Amino acid sequence: MTTQLLQTTILNDSLIQINWSDYEVPVANIHHHLESTIDEPTGWLHLPLENQENLLNSIQLVANEIKLQADVLVVVGVGGSFLGARAIQDALTPYFGLHQNGIEVVYAGQNMSGAYIKQLLDSLATKEVYVNVISKSGTTMEPALAFRLIRSFMKQRYGEEAKNRIIVTTDAKRGILKQIADDADYRQFVIPENIGGRYSVLTPVGLLPVAVAGVDIEQLLEGAKEAASKLKNEHLETNEAYRYAVIRHALYSKGYQIEMLASFEPALAKFHDWWKQLFGESEGKDKKGLYPTTVNFSTDLHAIGQFIQEGSPIIFETLLHFHDITDDCCVPYAEKNEDKLNYLSSRTFNEINAISKQGTALAHAEGGVPVIQLELERLDAYHLGYLIYFFMKACAMSAYLLNVNPFDQPGVEAYKKKMLELLNEQKVSF
Ligand code: PA5
Repeated sequence: MTTQLLQTTILNDSLIQINWSDYEVPVANIHHHLESTIDEPTGWLHLPLENQENLLNSIQLVANEIKLQADVLVVVGVGGSFLGARAIQDALTPYFGLHQNGIEVVYAGQNMSGAYIKQLLDSLATKEVYVNVISKSGTTMEPALAFRLIRSFMKQRYGEEAKNRIIVTTDAKRGILKQIADDADYRQFVIPENIGGRYSVLTPVGLLPVAVAGVDIEQLLEGAKEAASKLKNEHLETNEAYRYAVIRHALYSKGYQIEMLASFEPALAKFHDWWKQLFGESEGKDKKGLYPTTVNFSTDLHAIGQFIQEGSPIIFETLLHFHDITDDCCVPYAEKNEDKLNYLSSRTFNEINAISKQGTALAHAEGGVPVIQLELERLDAYHLGYLIYFFMKACAMSAYLLNVNPFDQPGVEAYKKKMLELLNEQKVSF
């Protein structure tokens, strides 16, 4: 490892052969646009450098109250109003058992499955409940529908007291959710106007749920702050986020169509989902963009590994690796060595996992798959905060290199329009 917090390397760079000097001017131009624009929702770029002490204190206060009063926090939201919190929670809390103080953090409003919401409400019957509903627009169907039901559940269950147990995270001024929150006198956290959904994880959108789950939000923001200052320059030699963006663009220009984010730690599966939305919604427009997909190794080595190694050469791999993972186990020595694994005894699972990562990367690289490695020292709140900011900055640069707007998602409206048409038609025919 170098002294850099995050290191980007290309395993088989002869396959890619990037002409870095071609990118200097476009990257510098985009950089200056990003840093100076007031017309785009780029509030997330400088937010970690601002003093957020008051906000953090009030989030922590509410989180402590929830931890004290509730057995379960139901977080209602979808897309950028859900994926980030879920990603951080899964990455930084234990695999099994309850979170700190015995509280569960569960999610609703990402689907319209009747079975899911029914079983969720059934599971709440004997538990003390708080709700955090999150929607920037306040009009998104999936969370709005879930919140309507959960609100009615809370009223039946707690009567007047329900209003103290529902926390709303939404726009400061606009939207139906804002109106509902004002009318019912729910406590509110604000999603800054100049920060869009998938760039909002480091605002109350992500911070309140993960603080309840026991994540150190101060450290998360410290990591993001470090990234905001380290990645604040336009220079391709030192700005790892821009280097990553350029590598992606160069591969796209060479005909690769799919970027596959891979890691060997199952805790990162939801983080993959956050990354997939960030890049998918930011870049996939105007008939352009890399298709972002993700794999969890070793699981997927036994599912999709064959395709990666020998299938259509349309994929490149971005291998995300944290060197230190808190918990570990040693392989025990077996007297009879029935399974012939004694040669591994006294090595740890994490060591073997890391060697498997190395072997996989080498095999894929030798098979002709370009492999980018993103390496960080430790899987903790600080390094995750750094990585989140790194990806958001790289994503904005990547989208602009493709000449698409990183901050809109016009294509998402198409399904909503059709769904509403059908729902209205059925209203007439029933
Ligand atoms: O990135 C985005 O803007 C979207 O994914 C939104 O976060 C998602 O559609 C949810 O929107 P809202 O928070 O308005 O309910």
